[in-house]
Amino acid sequence: MMGRSDPAANETEAAPVPRHVAIIMDGNRRWAARRHLPRQLGHRQGVEAVRVITRAAGEMGIGYLTLYGFSSENWNRPADEVSDLMGLLKLFIRRDLAELHHNGVQVRIIGDREHLDDDIVALIEEAEQLTRNNTRLKLIIAFNYGGQNEITSAVRRIAHEVKEGRLDPETITQATVAAHLDTAGIPDPDLIIRTSGEKRLSNFLLWQSAYAELVFSDVYWPDFSPDHLKQAIAEFNLRDRRFGAVAAP
Ligand code: IPE
Ligand code: IPE
Ligand code: MG
Repeated sequence: MMGRSDPAANETEAAPVPRHVAIIMDGNRRWAARRHLPRQLGHRQGVEAVRVITRAAGEMGIGYLTLYGFSSENWNRPADEVSDLMGLLKLFIRRDLAELHHNGVQVRIIGDREHLDDDIVALIEEAEQLTRNNTRLKLIIAFNYGGQNEITSAVRRIAHEVKEGRLDPETITQATVAAHLDTAGIPDPDLIIRTSGEKRLSNFLLWQSAYAELVFSDVYWPDFSPDHLKQAIAEFNLRDRRFGAVAAP
C-alpha cells in the first residue's frame, strides 16, 4: 500500500536529503557465500557498490558521504583478506580518483594511517591533495578507523597541548574535543545506514553519532543500490528529530 507513511511513497526528486549520510558497508562475505563465490569477489563487488552509491549521492545533492571501509578491528581477519582489502582501497583510488575529481568530489580519509603501508598513505595523500578544493560532494572514507581509537588520539593530543601550556583545561569544551577528532570540520552525520541486517555501530563514529538517525537495511552491501539509499532517506524523512527537546508542533 502506498500511503503517506509508506517510505517508498516519498521517493521523489524533490524530497529533502540529509546533509551527511554515513554508511557501514556490511555483508560482503555473506553476499559471496550465498553465491558460492570466494569472499574476495564479495569485497570486489562491494567496491562496485561504492562507485554507484558515491555517484548517486552526488546526484542526489548529499553534501557529505562517509563510508566505513576498514575498521581498526578488521586486522583480526585472515592476513590474505586484510591484504585483499588494502589492495581494494588502492585499486579504488587508482581507478576512480580521476573520475571523482572530474565530478567535483572532495576525498578525505579518516582513521589511523600511521600503521598503513607507505604506498597506501601516498595514494591517500594524493587523493586528498588533488581533490581538496572540490565542493560538490565530500566523500569521507573511514579506513583503519575506530571510534574509540579516534577519541583516544584526540585526548592524547589535547593532553599534550595542556602539558605544553598551549591549552587551559578550563577552556576545554565539546567543540575542543570535536576539533581534535579525525572528522574536524565535518558536520555530524544525520543518517547512519548499516547494511546486511546487523544492528550495531561496530566502533563507527561513536562521538559523531550522538544524534544520528539509524536505518538498518537487510540488503548485503554489494546489492545496495541507489533505490535502497533513497528508501533509507525516505525513512529518515519520516523521523522526528528532537535533539532532546520537544516535537515541533
Ligand atoms: C563488510 O563486509 C566489509 C568489511 C567489513 C571490510 P564483511 O566482510 O564484514 O562481510 P560479512 O558481514 O562477514 O558478510
Ligand atoms: C564493520 O563491519 C566494519 C566495516 C563495515 C568496515 P564488521 O563486519 O567488521 O563488523 P562486526 O564484526 O560484524 O561487528
Ligand atoms: Mg561484516
